[in-house]
Amino acid sequence: MSFNSFNSDTLMSKNDFASPIWLNNPSSDFDSSFQKVVEGSKLSKIIKPIKIGNVQLPNNLMLAPMAGVTDGSFRQLCARLGVGYTVSELASCKALQMRSSQTLDMIRFDGDTGKYAVQIFGSDPDLMAEAASYVESLKICDVIDLNMGCPVSKVVKTGAGSALMKTPELAAKIIKNVSKSVSLPVTCKFRIGWTENSINVKEFARAVVEAGVKAITVHARTRQAMYTGPAQWKYLEGLKDIAKNIPFISNGDISSEEHIIELYEKTGCDGFMIGRGCVGKPWIYAQLLGHSELLIPEFRFKIFKHHLVDMLMEHGSSAVPMFRVHLFGYLKNHPHSASLRRSLCTERNPNVVLKIGEEFFKNNGYL
Ligand SMILES: Cc1cc2nc3c(=O)[nH]c(=O)nc-3n(C[C@H](O)[C@H](O)[C@H](O)COP(=O)(O)O)c2cc1C
Repeated sequence: MSFNSFNSDTLMSKNDFASPIWLNNPSSDFDSSFQKVVEGSKLSKIIKPIKIGNVQLPNNLMLAPMAGVTDGSFRQLCARLGVGYTVSELASCKALQMRSSQTLDMIRFDGDTGKYAVQIFGSDPDLMAEAASYVESLKICDVIDLNMGCPVSKVVKTGAGSALMKTPELAAKIIKNVSKSVSLPVTCKFRIGWTENSINVKEFARAVVEAGVKAITVHARTRQAMYTGPAQWKYLEGLKDIAKNIPFISNGDISSEEHIIELYEKTGCDGFMIGRGCVGKPWIYAQLLGHSELLIPEFRFKIFKHHLVDMLMEHGSSAVPMFRVHLFGYLKNHPHSASLRRSLCTERNPNVVLKIGEEFFKNNGYL
């Protein structure tokens, strides 16, 4: 189904349209109005525009790259809800070299996702440079991000992802080669270390900054912790001094105004990247930016509906299974969430999913 020709009325009733316009029509133009922080709101002194290289971001709230989650539809939705920067799911440099259509579909999108980085991973500096140059030639993104944090065995056993934290010289070589091969700014995202006993975030940050990255994002967990246990923000302290003139972005367990204030006070970071905190709650960005008008349940249902419709347009018949991770996030506070998860885990009919969302939000179930 083509993005522009889809008629959203097939899934949306005619009388429940209200502003903002994009909520009523998935193919409407990109609307950046939520990307501005509301003056006088709680975070108005902390949320501000920043630059990565020569790329100006409307604000310093960022959507974390998440494989299986941050497809084009979700990146667009979050950008419409105010996020200042989005990153693709990680794309293999080998798959890019082979021009894999699955990988290309993952990083390309017909809609508008605001300022956008394509994230690539690999451990061969030449292959990474070639992949980055190919991505640049597609003219689909503003920044190239290098993954140095992925903990998955299949990735680290090739020396890529978070395994690069054990080989800072190789990480630096990758950055240098990639930076030479593209004119877009090159950034990287890494963790605080490989194991709890080998935390080397400061040394690693020094190496990548010296190699010339234009921003660093640090996930405050080790590879050993994978995604569990609390993020260890204390290890983010002092990184701003190492980053000097380039943005230093904090990541890990950020999901409220209080978190942002605490992290800012502790680390002086330039940006805040939110991952799981926005799954099932994409309006968190609007909320943090002070746009409280979006918090009514009726709007939340419209956002849910818009999200599903966009995914149907992007992925066709596989959209409903792919939407499941979001669906379970949206229904997290449902009184019967466990039984719903069981009954919905094989559902493929978008109308059934839509109906469940409608009942949930219209009964104010979320609040
Ligand atoms: C399902 C999932 C997929 C992820 N995929 C990626 C990825 O492709 N690239 C990456 O750099 N990080 C990836 N991450 C890590 C997140 O970007 C982020 O660093 C991590 O979830 C910590 O942030 P959070 O506590 O706000 O979720 C992923 C995380 C999750 C939960």
